[in-house]
Amino acid sequence: MYSRVGVQSLSCAFSYVWKQQRQVLNNVSARSLQSSSNASLKEILEQKIGEMREEVAQVRHAVGNQVLGTCTVDQAYGGMRSVKAMTYETSLLDPNEGIRFRGYSIPECQKLLPGIKQGGEPLPESLLFLLLTGEIPSVQQVTALREELSSRAQLPDRVKKTLNSVSPSLHPMAQFSIGILAMQSDSVFAREYARGAPKNKWWEYCLEDSLTLIARLPQVAAIVYRNTYYQGKQLEADLKLDMSARLTKMMGFQNPEFDELMRLYLTIHADHEGGNVSAHSVRLVGSALSDPFLSFSAGMNGLAGPLHGLANQNVLTWLLQVKEKLGGQAPTKENLTKICWDTLNSGNVIPGFGHAVLRRTDPRYMCQREFALKHLPNDEIFQLVSLLYEVVPKVLSEQGKVSNPWPNVDAHSGTLLRYYGVKEMTFYTVLFGVSRALGTLSSLVWDRALGLPIERPKSVTTRWIKENLVHKAASEAK
Ligand SMILES: CC(C)(COP(=O)(O)OP(=O)(O)OC[C@H]1O[C@@H](n2cnc3c(N)ncnc32)[C@H](O)[C@@H]1OP(=O)(O)O)[C@@H](O)C(=O)NCCC(=O)NCCS
Repeated sequence: MYSRVGVQSLSCAFSYVWKQQRQVLNNVSARSLQSSSNASLKEILEQKIGEMREEVAQVRHAVGNQVLGTCTVDQAYGGMRSVKAMTYETSLLDPNEGIRFRGYSIPECQKLLPGIKQGGEPLPESLLFLLLTGEIPSVQQVTALREELSSRAQLPDRVKKTLNSVSPSLHPMAQFSIGILAMQSDSVFAREYARGAPKNKWWEYCLEDSLTLIARLPQVAAIVYRNTYYQGKQLEADLKLDMSARLTKMMGFQNPEFDELMRLYLTIHADHEGGNVSAHSVRLVGSALSDPFLSFSAGMNGLAGPLHGLANQNVLTWLLQVKEKLGGQAPTKENLTKICWDTLNSGNVIPGFGHAVLRRTDPRYMCQREFALKHLPNDEIFQLVSLLYEVVPKVLSEQGKVSNPWPNVDAHSGTLLRYYGVKEMTFYTVLFGVSRALGTLSSLVWDRALGLPIERPKSVTTRWIKENLVHKAASEAK
């Protein structure tokens, strides 16, 4: 099963991640570490997973009874915001600095991760290697992973048939999720679990399914796109291409600059630590030992919500409404301020602004802005987005409700996609989903490697709170 070179080198590196992470913690450059081993994959994995379990056991033994986070009554009613109650290894979100993938910021990833050309955007395959292993891959390692993914990328006919039988009037995210579920019968994890596979092997089967899913998702997405907007006229997958170029070609685009944008897009949307709706859904459903197809589909159903991934669709809809409201007038700070207040006063949120964790401008917004400044500085919608960057935070701050008035990733992505010809806004979240597979499935592999148990936090009723906290507080006050 793991005889192919891509998985071999990936898995060897994967098994070294703990050693690397320890050294990162000790301020040793992660880049100085190289994954190399002559031992067989099985020997390395048996050894390293044993080591990892031991390390977690040591951590738990040392600090297992220390409080990691607390939960107030307000937090319990308030979406558990800021409650530290889970571990998640592939990325960490700092409220001010933004996301770091395995310790690397987005600008660092852009600098260090191999791309298709020198100085170009990183390949999402490079990021996948980093997320799984914690290591910046060499060009050879990325090439091997690309070949591995290509060898798995062809979608079975029965899955195409399922996708083709779905009404194109169904939202593309619902179609995407159906396509993912239609692959479930290929799950190695489900098959081996049913055969009684031992717990220490589960991660291998999870990796197997995750790579298959990641490899096939561009074609699932492209079929949804062509079925929904191009009367089902599908295009063949060119398996020689990297996943970004493969995706854009199957969607019907032939523009190397758009391929570069797609590489950036698929890289920056991949992961945003563990508590967001899509990542947490994948983790939660996977914790019941539902296989990666079932788990990832659940994550996509969460990504489809307007407060999460669907916001990128809503941003462009709103931008076009703003343009319409301007009625041919040039946008100015004054007329945009009025339109923003109109949006708020009509009871709507301004899409693309605010965040549950971030408290500054999202670095994923900034790198897209830099891309736009380089490639489409004169685009009318980009110029509108730029001006709104100066206007919206002031309006939201003045309104005084939001915790974070700054733009998030979704404030920019639609503008770029539209510029390169993807004008169908309802499709945008599907692209987000293709990317989100890289992070959430890498994390799922680690969940099984670490033997994380089924998730089951305790809930209480309002009556319980009254009986146990309100009455207690009242009697203490007497
Ligand atoms: C992302 C988001 C869901 C975070 O929600 P949150 O953590 O509850 O945010 P806050 O704590 O800042 O919310 C406090 C209040 O400000 C409001 N608020 C937050 N962002 C807002 C925005 N962009 N426009 C208007 N009001 C906003 C909230 O709706 C909430 O109002 P309420 O108390 O009347 O319910 C929220 O900022 C939002 O709806 N943004 C727009 C949608 C979006 O861009 N989503 C993509 C996120 S990556």
